[in-house]
Amino acid sequence: MKGFSQRIETVQEYYFSAKLREVNQMIAEGKPVINLGIGSPDLAPDKLVLEAMKSTVENPQAHGYQSYQGIPELRIAMAEFYAREYGVSLQPDKEILPLIGSKEGIMHISMTFLNPGDQVLIPDPGYPTYASVTNLLGAEPVYYTLDLSQKGRPNLEELESRDLSKVKLMWINYPHMPTGAPGSKKILEEIVAFAKRNEIVLLHDNPYSHILSEKPLSILEVAGATDVALELNSLSKTFNMPGWRVGMLVGRADWIQKILKVKSNMDSGMFLGIQKGAIAALKLGKGWFEELGELYANRRKLVWKLADKLGLTYAKDASGLFVWCKVPDGKTAEEIVDQLLYERHIFITPGKIFGSQGEGYVRISLCMPEFKILEAINRIKP
Ligand SMILES: Cc1ncc(COP(=O)(O)O)c(C=O)c1O
Repeated sequence: MKGFSQRIETVQEYYFSAKLREVNQMIAEGKPVINLGIGSPDLAPDKLVLEAMKSTVENPQAHGYQSYQGIPELRIAMAEFYAREYGVSLQPDKEILPLIGSKEGIMHISMTFLNPGDQVLIPDPGYPTYASVTNLLGAEPVYYTLDLSQKGRPNLEELESRDLSKVKLMWINYPHMPTGAPGSKKILEEIVAFAKRNEIVLLHDNPYSHILSEKPLSILEVAGATDVALELNSLSKTFNMPGWRVGMLVGRADWIQKILKVKSNMDSGMFLGIQKGAIAALKLGKGWFEELGELYANRRKLVWKLADKLGLTYAKDASGLFVWCKVPDGKTAEEIVDQLLYERHIFITPGKIFGSQGEGYVRISLCMPEFKILEAINRIKP
């Protein structure tokens, strides 16, 4: 054995991969931990989705390898979803690539565009995978901050005063995780113009567009965005299907073709039953989104109460699956997180795992039923 790759020194085990081992150990010891840490929707997908999967499983012809690009029917359903939800028209055979969850797409995109030494603009705080994948490829994360008083607008003027010659990619994500900053069409327009001026490929990661947002927004709604931007989308949160692993990459045909060149060397398509279930989900109408919105709005009111009781402050105009809370002066986020976990058996996430700007914040998930959030509230002494 001549050692592991140097590459693995650039990353740590994903926070939740390690922390959930500890939480599960506590549960195994009989501690009644309420998990308000992770953003994994706890409710089932729609019945039609389950039926589509079940009837496919029964078909003896359904168990072979599948197309690297997904079945045409899935790409058509994705195109119809984009037309209906965002008013964006996509060619199903060229401008859509189904993914085994959007997380893997981050790797495929990065492998397609990055050489060692290239720089990548990444939001801080932000989804940790953007930086880990960048590091794994020997490229360099360059962090930018978001102005939460301006719906999460990056300071583009400040960014443009830097040397951007080595910056090849920029990750953006609205509604933003973990802060819930909603973004806006105007912000997306400004970022598209910035990316064009600086010849940067813009990557919009969009898994929360349907969670507590006023109106779902796609970067491809911005005129001219197709020239510079690709978008990742996901069925995980929108349709309660995180474990199914279905996402999609949409945008420029020639770029998608290059990404498929990489991806087709990594996996061999998605099980047909999953694709059929995804098609049924993508066809769900307004009723599904209304129910989902009401459910999360009710839970969020309770999480606000929990935050109030803990002396945390938060913005009420946020979107997405989390409440992002500022810790009061005189306390650290780690103190609060550890105290809650070890003394009250409530698991929430320290903000610093999302970057240095997350220091002093905690993230509370809405993926728990109301009675559990109420129980958490009752575990906190007044
Ligand atoms: C910002 C962001 N991007 C991407 C993902 C990955 O989603 P998927 O389940 O589609 O891989 C997540 C999941 O938590 C996320 O928060």
